[in-house]
Amino acid sequence: MTKLNVEGKVVAITGGSRGLGLYCAEILLRNGAKSIYLTSRKDKAVQEAVDYLQKINKLDELDAKIVGIASDVSNKAGVDHFFNTVKQHEDHVDILIANAGASWGEALETHPETGFDKVLDLNVKGVFLTIQSFYPLLKKAGSKDYSSRVLIMGSIAGIQINAIEGGTYGYAASKAGVMHMGKTLALELGPQNINVNLLAPGFFPTKMSNGLLENIGEKMVKANPKKRLGNQKDIESVVLFFCAKESDYINGAVIPIDGGAHLGEAPDSKL
Ligand SMILES: NC(=O)c1ccc[n+]([C@@H]2O[C@H](COP(=O)([O-])OP(=O)(O)OC[C@H]3O[C@@H](n4cnc5c(N)ncnc54)[C@H](OP(=O)(O)O)[C@@H]3O)[C@@H](O)[C@H]2O)c1
Repeated sequence: MTKLNVEGKVVAITGGSRGLGLYCAEILLRNGAKSIYLTSRKDKAVQEAVDYLQKINKLDELDAKIVGIASDVSNKAGVDHFFNTVKQHEDHVDILIANAGASWGEALETHPETGFDKVLDLNVKGVFLTIQSFYPLLKKAGSKDYSSRVLIMGSIAGIQINAIEGGTYGYAASKAGVMHMGKTLALELGPQNINVNLLAPGFFPTKMSNGLLENIGEKMVKANPKKRLGNQKDIESVVLFFCAKESDYINGAVIPIDGGAHLGEAPDSKL
């Protein structure tokens, strides 16, 4: 029997204070991570996430180190602050999850440059700067026995060509762009024992998606081949597999986590 785990691994997660990033932190903690470093912009949010994970740490007698760092990873200064704090504690990082992301929805006619910049800065430039900073520590962690891992949180919005719901032009461009960048990095870093994979979630109820889901959630569920939205377990199982040594030969993959929605609508959704 194979039991997946990440025992003894050092993990860094951007945007780990809530939503999908916190799901990533929780599953890696529960499955043996030695240290988890997470960041979001707000002190209070970071602290609440750390407190939540510490409770699990204590209840499950796990003894992991959990550190929260408030920093904005859409710019170099914020990425440096996150990275330098991790570096004070660790000489290597086994798993980097570039998860922090933002969206902006507005009609084409009024869509502001600032909204477009905000999304591209965090979802593309921030991911690049984060991987660039952590590269030396990832390289140190990777070996023939265990390739260190970079997971980029993309989206099916970067795969599926659809009428853009709510005017999320920058978001669609950012997710297509960051996943393409991830594949390029997978080719370059694979030979250095660093695997780069791209997760492409469909719709999961989180702070980011709740506004959109209020308007079109029901339609989404009807159209989805699995007739539901994503949930915590759907993310957790994929993340654990892609961080465990058993997935060592998977590099540069795009994994839709969307019940098959990227392929089209369920046939009965139009009835
Ligand atoms: N939910 C979905 O349906 C869905 C679908 C596909 C892909 N995704 C992707 O999954 C990732 C996580 O999204 P989510 O749904 O979990 O959203 P969320 O609940 O809004 O969480 C976003 C996280 O990122 C942090 N963050 C935002 N801006 C940041 C910045 N500039 N620097 C550092 N941290 C920042 C937030 O904390 P602060 O606000 O405190 O900074 C929070 O921890 C994103 O990349 C998103 O595009 C989500």
